Amino acid sequence: MNRFTLDTIGEIGFGKCIGSLEDPSSPFLQSFDKAQQIAFQRFVLPVWRPLRWLGIGHERETRKHFQLLDEYSHSVAQDLRKGLSRDTGRAGIAWEDIETRKSFIGLFLQDAKKRGQELSDDYLRDLVLNFLIAGRDTTAQALSWAIFLLCMTPECEAKARREIRDVCGVRGPAYDDMSRLRYVQAVLSETLRLFPSVPLDAKYAQSDDVLPDGTVVPRGTTVFYNLYSMGRDHAIWGEDAEVFRPERWLEMESPPSNYAYPVFNAGPRECLGRRLAIVEMKTCLAMILPELSFRLAIPVDQVMPDAQLTIGMSRGLPCTVVRASEPREVDDLASTASAVGQSGKATSSGSCTSEFAVDEEEDNADSDGQEEEKPC
Ligand code: HEM
Repeated sequence: MNRFTLDTIGEIGFGKCIGSLEDPSSPFLQSFDKAQQIAFQRFVLPVWRPLRWLGIGHERETRKHFQLLDEYSHSVAQDLRKGLSRDTGRAGIAWEDIETRKSFIGLFLQDAKKRGQELSDDYLRDLVLNFLIAGRDTTAQALSWAIFLLCMTPECEAKARREIRDVCGVRGPAYDDMSRLRYVQAVLSETLRLFPSVPLDAKYAQSDDVLPDGTVVPRGTTVFYNLYSMGRDHAIWGEDAEVFRPERWLEMESPPSNYAYPVFNAGPRECLGRRLAIVEMKTCLAMILPELSFRLAIPVDQVMPDAQLTIGMSRGLPCTVVRASEPREVDDLASTASAVGQSGKATSSGSCTSEFAVDEEEDNADSDGQEEEKPC
C-alpha cells in the first residue's frame, strides 16, 4: 500500500513516476522510512541533538538518509522547473511536461509565476517532501485498516462490493462514480474514526486563549488532542462507539463537524490532500473489491496498532486473497465473528457482527441519508 500511495503522490503531486511498485529496493524508499523514524524519535527523545552531533544511537545514519532525501527532492524540483520553462515551440508540449503542469507543485509554480514571484529551490524541495510525507503513509495505512475491518466484517465487505458493482459496472471506477459510492465512503469514514491516520495532533497557542469549557490556555502553550480516543468517545459517537458500523454515517442527518471528527484537521489548515486521498482510497477499493476478497492470515490479536507519527500495523496485514466469487466457508465466517471480539480487546477496535446483515431494502434506504461527498 505504501508503494501504491507513494507512486500516486509522485504522479499527482509532481508529475513524476517514482516506480516503487516496480522496484521496492530503491535506496530512496529506505531513506524515506528511516528519516521518518528518526524524526519520530526526536519527539520521543528530545535530547537528540548531542546524539546527532556524535553520530550515535538513532541519529547514527541521519546525515546519510536526510541527504539522500534532500538530493532527491531537489532533483524533482529542478525537473519541475525545467518542465514548466521548456519552450513549447511548434512541436507542442511533451507529455511529461503536460503532467508537470497539471501536478500539484506545477500548479503552485504556475500560480507563483502569474503573481510575479519566484519560488526558491529550498521552498520547492520542502513542498516536494511535504507532499511525499503527508500523502504516503496516511493514505496507505487508512486503506490497510479499511481492508482489515472489511476482513473482520464479511457483511460490510459484501455490501461495499455490491455497491461498487452497481455503480461502476464492468467498466471499472470512473471519476464521476466517486460521489455515488456512498457505502464505500461510509466504510472509509468509519475506518478513519477508529484508526485516524494521524492519531495524535497538537496546536500551539500564539496568544492567550480560553477553551469553551473555561480552561485557560496561556500564550506559548502546546495543546495535544488525541484523535484516536476522540473517535471512540461515547459522548460523541454513542454507546457503540467501539463498533465498526459504516451504516452510522448513512443514518446521520448531517456529517459531524470537522472539530468533532478532525481526522483531516479542521479550519484553515485542513488537510490539503483530503479529497485526493478519498478519491485514491475509493478508486483502490473499487478496483480490487469486485474481484477479490481478503481473509486475515494471522490471528486477529496479532494485528496491533503501531502508533508513530501515523498509525500503522506492527506486523503489517498478512492476508489470504481469494476470488470474490468464492463463498466464505461457514467455519471461516464463524471464526471471523469470534475473532472480531478478540480484535476489540486487542486493539480497542470494535466488533461488527450480524447487525450488518442489512437486507436490500434497508440498504437502499440507508444511502439516502449520506451527505454527498464533494466532487474531488
Ligand atoms: C487518509 C489520508 C490522509 C489523512 C487522514 C490526512 C490527515 C491530515 C491531517 C490530520 C493534517 C493536519 C496535520 C497538522 O496538524 O498540521 C494534514 C495536513 C496535510 N495533509 Fe493530509 N492526510 C491524508 C492524506 C493526504 C494526502 C494524500 C496529501 C497529498 C497531497 C496530504 C497533504 C497534506 C498537506 C500538504 C497538509 C498540510 C496542510 C497545511 O498545513 O496547510 N494529505 N493531513
